[in-house]
Amino acid sequence: MNCKVIAIENQKGGTGKSTTALNLGVGLKMKGKKVLLIDADPQGSLSISLGIKRPDELDVSLATLMSKVIDNKPFDDDYGIIHCNEGIDLMPCNVELSGIESYLFTVMSRECIMRTYVNQVKKNYDYILIDCTPSLGLLPINAFVAADSIIVPSQPRILSTKGLDLLLRTYSQVKRGINPDLKIDGILFTMVDSRTVNDRSVIESMRESFGMKINVFNTVIPASVRVTEANMEGKSIFAYDGKCKVADAYKKLTKEVLDIAAREKARFRDDGSR
Ligand SMILES: Nc1ncnc2c1ncn2[C@@H]1O[C@H](COP(=O)(O)OP(=O)(O)O)[C@@H](O)[C@H]1O
Ligand SMILES: [Mg+2]
Repeated sequence: MNCKVIAIENQKGGTGKSTTALNLGVGLKMKGKKVLLIDADPQGSLSISLGIKRPDELDVSLATLMSKVIDNKPFDDDYGIIHCNEGIDLMPCNVELSGIESYLFTVMSRECIMRTYVNQVKKNYDYILIDCTPSLGLLPINAFVAADSIIVPSQPRILSTKGLDLLLRTYSQVKRGINPDLKIDGILFTMVDSRTVNDRSVIESMRESFGMKINVFNTVIPASVRVTEANMEGKSIFAYDGKCKVADAYKKLTKEVLDIAAREKARFRDDGSR
């Protein structure tokens, strides 16, 4: 299987990362893809939104697997993976991961621990989405090292050039140092209120100023209480209300993400046949 690994990151909290990981994941599954979601935020909100009520009580989580990699212990591909209701797999996460993050500083190849895990399991999936923690610390760096690309969800009102510059700097460091093939798939505007002039004008000006350098997804995710309601029921937006505008938007985003992957594959084939 040719797996694409996507890290979903913005160092700000509450920008729609976990919501996007879940709904893009289920969207890809609905297109026949085999999907693993990795919750890489010690808060475990992705795990919770997939119906795991108390992630802190799990015996096995991402922290367990990263410890095994650090200690060079073998593990089965599906060890700790939870097969969720909506047909996607989850490597859950809980507060133990913050302990691992501090411990990582003392470890050799500390940026590459998550990659070792991902590389072992990726043969079983078409897509692996990593839901990152809101920081630019070692955990998101581990995700960038493990990933083929990054998606940056952001609310138009709070996307600052400075914040984006910081994220791009971390991206460039990882790309230069460890993972030269890393790409940015795009900035995704979330929780958009299309009635406000402010949201619309920020999106337009971002498209103009970044559009040449960084893709801004054509799809924007509207703000809707449906998202919070779905969250509380531990369901994706598709299972909760497949006809609402947010479900429609995540369906369109899924298509854009599949198109990017298809273009990359075609380019790879062209390069290979030259
Ligand atoms: N499109 C949306 N419309 C309304 N609320 C949303 C939307 N996307 C996310 N939210 C809500 O905003 C909060 C933060 O979203 P979340 O995906 O957890 O962000 P992050 O993972 O970046 O911290 C959650 O309460 C979530 O239910
Ligand atoms: Mg989150």
